[in-house]
Amino acid sequence: MSAITINAQKPNHFITTADYTAEQLLDLVNRAIQFKVESKYSHPKARTDRPLAGKTMALLFSKRSTRTRVATETAVGYLGGNAMFLGGQDIQLGVNESLLDTTRVVSSMVDGIMARVGGHDEIETLAKESAVPVINALSDKYHPTQILADLMTIHEYYHHKKNNVAKGVYSAHTQHPRETLNGLKVAWVGDANNILQEILVAFPKCGISVSAACPPGYVCDQDVIDIAQADAKKTGASVVFTTSPEEAIKDCDIIVTDTWVSMGQEEEKKKRLAEFKGYQVTNDLAKRGGAKADWVFMHCLPRKPEEVDDEVFYSDRSLVFPEAENRKWTILSVVDALMVRGGI
Ligand code: CP
Ligand code: NVA
Repeated sequence: MSAITINAQKPNHFITTADYTAEQLLDLVNRAIQFKVESKYSHPKARTDRPLAGKTMALLFSKRSTRTRVATETAVGYLGGNAMFLGGQDIQLGVNESLLDTTRVVSSMVDGIMARVGGHDEIETLAKESAVPVINALSDKYHPTQILADLMTIHEYYHHKKNNVAKGVYSAHTQHPRETLNGLKVAWVGDANNILQEILVAFPKCGISVSAACPPGYVCDQDVIDIAQADAKKTGASVVFTTSPEEAIKDCDIIVTDTWVSMGQEEEKKKRLAEFKGYQVTNDLAKRGGAKADWVFMHCLPRKPEEVDDEVFYSDRSLVFPEAENRKWTILSVVDALMVRGGI
């Protein structure tokens, strides 16, 4: 009888885009576009191979989610696998069992883990202890699958615009994202949170400049700032921080914001609403700040009206709904890379 060899190689994870090069991220975007085209626009539409048949991904979520959960469950299903949602009320984690023990047990039975956690140290523990690939579905420091979807959305928008493609005709796959993204300027107006931090470690290395306005006292982690500035130096992009929304917006192509009160910060709501006064994204703010005439708006959602008014949010400038849909195609691309192809 021949011996069984156990493959003890460390699994690949997707914890932050900071761990990957621009080429690797844009390859993931290109693959996401292929999935979108094959699923929505090709004939016949049905995919015949089921590369994740017999495999399971656990969704270990300690916080609420609409987009990330639906995107992941549908992505795993698309590849023929089974997605098992394990919310905070479902399992022993945090009540009767530690994260370390939970990770060892769950990862011994599944083929991948998508985890939404509190502190970033929790996702790092998961990645260290897991026997299978772990994807960060949001931590207090980073949100990598969101910013991958944002790169795809920006690429699609500018590809269509530059190539003068009619609305409803899909064609984001003829130009490399590097060409569409390089040289753009993104203005952030809002909290110094996980979304801004993921933008900072992803956009400058793709050649996108970032100017961020956050209220006094709201600052990003120094290691994140260091990564952003080092990446910007290499690509010629710029990274600027200010407390003035108008200053951040000057000459920008895209204005991005997020909630002023992230999950877990509910007790600070009153204080935050007061301190973010003047930060609501409106057409008037964009005009006062001197955004480019054809500026567009992005938001990871869910959205509250205090951070962006309805006039902008539901306008033709707003990319928020394609951005939400692209969570599915980009998560599909990451799951395919980690669970089917063996790495990014
Ligand atoms: N943007 C985002 O992560 O949304 P959900 O919290 O609904 O997953
Ligand atoms: N900053 C938000 C993002 C939600 C997708 C939060 O952490 O709650």
